[in-house]
Amino acid sequence: MRPKHLSRPKIVAGNWKLNGDRAFVDDYLATFKRSLKQLKLKQGQNLSVLLIPPAIFLPLLSERVKQELNLQSQLSVQLAAQNVAAYASGAYTGEVSASMLNDFSCRWCLVGHSERRALFGESDQVVVEKIAQLLVVGIRPILCLGETLEQREQGQAETCVRDQLQAVLDAFDESALANLVLAYEPVWAIGTGKTASPEQAQAMHQFIRSVLKEKFPVLADSMPILYGGSVNAQNAKELFEQIDIDGALVGGASLKAEEFLEICARCLSQAE
Ligand code: PGA
Repeated sequence: MRPKHLSRPKIVAGNWKLNGDRAFVDDYLATFKRSLKQLKLKQGQNLSVLLIPPAIFLPLLSERVKQELNLQSQLSVQLAAQNVAAYASGAYTGEVSASMLNDFSCRWCLVGHSERRALFGESDQVVVEKIAQLLVVGIRPILCLGETLEQREQGQAETCVRDQLQAVLDAFDESALANLVLAYEPVWAIGTGKTASPEQAQAMHQFIRSVLKEKFPVLADSMPILYGGSVNAQNAKELFEQIDIDGALVGGASLKAEEFLEICARCLSQAE
């Protein structure tokens, strides 16, 4: 039997944040298509590659990814959204609902990214409401968790991550969370070029799995936990070697299609 960590699905997700324009999408897809040919999946390998563009590019990308990438490769590239409304519909100017995302082939969505928590006041309660909206239409939430530098220096890293996770675990039952994915992203490592060491990341991933186990023992072994925070083609291999790291949420390095695919290749070679 394969060890449990090898049989968990692997996911590499590229969060474009507020970057890109039409010309960028053209260049990106052209490079992606060229480089994709080098990525070969072996029998039994399970890697999801997610592109997370600004919402306005989702319709365009959903068509083009289907036509230009997925028809030509055994690897399935899927779309994720960076954000979703906490409401189904109504007078909420500027928001995009889960069912609208679903209409445009968006299968995944980030929730609780530290930039949304810090800059847009997204509380644990709002995170729970957004996850509830996604679950109604069957979009897989990627719940981001992570402590600030100050919290880490004060020895509060685990408490912070536990509280963020617990808010969600307390709001749903085990079957509702079967499709949840977690992403541990220490705030001090995001966009700073300062990655958590593989040991620091592994320790927190193991801790997250132990918190999951207290409430939902079955989910604890099967739920993918991604690492995020200055992941690039150089540091990805060592991170993916850690037993509780099942992939990556990549920001800056995902804007370069070639480098992003190199990170995907590192993840695949680890999944062998
Ligand atoms: P980064 O961003 O890779 O640029 O640090 C990661 C993220 O915010 O998801």
